[in-house]
Amino acid sequence: MTVSDLEMSALSPDSRQVVMHEGVCVLVCNTGGTHYAIENRCTHQDTPLHEGRIRNGLISCPLHGVRFDLKTGEPRGDLTRIPVRTFAVEQTGDRLRVQIDQMRSS
Ligand code: FES
Repeated sequence: MTVSDLEMSALSPDSRQVVMHEGVCVLVCNTGGTHYAIENRCTHQDTPLHEGRIRNGLISCPLHGVRFDLKTGEPRGDLTRIPVRTFAVEQTGDRLRVQIDQMRSS
């Protein structure tokens, strides 16, 4: 298994950023003061998730509305049972380190 670190600045509360890192499109967001990182790809029909509404720790896919848990990647709804990939985020001061696991697939 290969893990590579994505280094970036911490985000302001309730903001998000899409970052390409070694071929993986990563959505990093700060919701309620906590940072999360997930692959920016819905597991239903490969739609980007970054424009989805974030509420109560869930992001809604803008296309058909499946909600994914930002922490675990687990979907809520009937359209897909496949979780989105999630990545560990460590914050040190105003810096983030996102650990991108290259071998995990969903
Ligand atoms: S493409 Fe995301 S729910 Fe259908």
